[in-house]
Amino acid sequence: MKQTNKLFSDKPSSYWRNSTDMPSYPVLEKDLDTDVLVIGAGIAGITTAYELTKRGRRVVLIEGRDLISGTTGYTTSKLTAQHDIIYQGLIERYGEETAKQYFQANLQAINYVKDTAAEHGIDCEFEEQDAYVYTQLDEGTETIEKEVEAYRKLQIDGYLTDKLPLDIPIKAAAVMRQQAQFHPVKYLAGLLKEIELRGGSIYEQTLAVSFDTEERPVVHTESGYSITANNVVSATHFPLELENQYFSSNMNPKNSYGIAIKSKKPYPKGMYISLESPKRSIRSLKKGEDHYVLVGGESHVTGDGTSVLDRYERIYQFADEQFGVEELYEHWSSHDLLTTDQLPFVGKVSDEAPGVYTATGFGKWGLSNGVAAATLLADLIDGKENAFADLYKIGREMEEAEAASFGEDDVDRISNEKVVQPDDLPNGKGALLEKDGQTMAYYRDDEGSLHEMNASCTHNGCPVAWNDADHTWDCSCHGSRFTAVGEVVEGPAIRDLDRE
Ligand SMILES: Cc1cc2nc3c(=O)[nH]c(=O)nc-3n(C[C@H](O)[C@H](O)[C@H](O)COP(=O)(O)OP(=O)(O)OC[C@H]3O[C@@H](n4cnc5c(N)ncnc54)[C@H](O)[C@@H]3O)c2cc1C
Ligand code: FES
Repeated sequence: MKQTNKLFSDKPSSYWRNSTDMPSYPVLEKDLDTDVLVIGAGIAGITTAYELTKRGRRVVLIEGRDLISGTTGYTTSKLTAQHDIIYQGLIERYGEETAKQYFQANLQAINYVKDTAAEHGIDCEFEEQDAYVYTQLDEGTETIEKEVEAYRKLQIDGYLTDKLPLDIPIKAAAVMRQQAQFHPVKYLAGLLKEIELRGGSIYEQTLAVSFDTEERPVVHTESGYSITANNVVSATHFPLELENQYFSSNMNPKNSYGIAIKSKKPYPKGMYISLESPKRSIRSLKKGEDHYVLVGGESHVTGDGTSVLDRYERIYQFADEQFGVEELYEHWSSHDLLTTDQLPFVGKVSDEAPGVYTATGFGKWGLSNGVAAATLLADLIDGKENAFADLYKIGREMEEAEAASFGEDDVDRISNEKVVQPDDLPNGKGALLEKDGQTMAYYRDDEGSLHEMNASCTHNGCPVAWNDADHTWDCSCHGSRFTAVGEVVEGPAIRDLDRE
């Protein structure tokens, strides 16, 4: 096995963001009153803001960090209604009608992106591709066959095969025809311009920290300003949560990884995902005459403390075996939120908070689901009927998500370094250690200074774990991430780790 860990010693960065001329917008420095406030500039928030400005609404869009720097900036960007294996389960749980609606919501979303990009001349590398989910094991064949049978029942254009255009031996694959892949950041950067052209206001580095839900919702920002609106959409990945903690109880975060490589072998058409774990997700990247391939996978519960460097290495080995790696371009990771019934939550947050909406729980398929969510939210705000309102309904009855549990030896398991005291910690590494009965997070920076922080996540107190590739502290409960020295990178936490 090649030693590739050092290939991944550079900080991860997003291929999508790096290959886009990113627009920039000001920080909010005054109080505002508007019709609709959208919080969060990922695919769900930007598409909602675009759709509502197009319908003539007065919209303000705020982003707490850089635009498109959340999960949408670190995705694989298949735009498809083939969401791994899903339709047989939806039919069993909710019946054929609901399963068909899910397919149609996502198919309409693909067409929405295609038509919107064409309407505004956005070059977002949109390409039609067939989507494959494949098994390499005899035991997986029945599941694939059942999925294809579900396609037949739902009149989805697809078929069963035992061969891939890729040089990977398989037992069976379910194929969905005419799906797509695109460049999400180029597409969304194009929509931001359209929002502005239609009178929408956009602010970056403007973190929402709290909101009141009295007569009209009022959102307060970290820098002390407030925005009053008739309607507020929390498109913040994990929603700004009310007292009842519905979202905390019904979703779990899972990480996955991507690498972009220049491949030695030519790439046929198609987008691929393995049925078995470790997951492998594959698509091409458009880069002139060269063959570029994006390989992703290694999905796992966020913050389980296993070595992330090893995960990148395993994806690299797979990519090298399949395509021959001529050059490694970028590597990156992110997490998404999974509901227990595989359906997202989109709509009004609760009857106690009139005018407050959210879209979340996209289960790693938020590019099409996020677009479907945006048109649904725009219809709800406009008081219009939408065929998918019940499909994504918040508050539906379902099994609660099990809290991630790492057993009794948490501290050992979730620290990647075998360190018994802070003095043992090498430069550039982090570890969890007990101090006076408390779990502390230690990080020694490249200059040798030791940073000591409380290891309790500032969102709801779960322990964070060291991520040895991204050099972050990751929380298993709802996916918050903190830099090595404890600053929030990703919510729902809004406060840095407590420093000693
Ligand atoms: C590795 C990986 C690969 C994936 N591949 C695919 C794929 O191929 N196809 C697919 O359909 N889906 C895929 N997904 C899932 C998809 O990328 C996500 O579901 C989707 O991007 C989520 O979009 P979002 O708008 O909800 O969240 P985000 O993109 O995370 O946007 C939320 C934004 O809100 C901001 N924010 C958060 N809190 C606040 C606050 N308090 N105030 C202001 N702003 C705030 C954040 O900074 C962020 O920019 C993948 C996910 C991962 C992790
Ligand atoms: S993200 Fe909720 S407790 Fe950490």
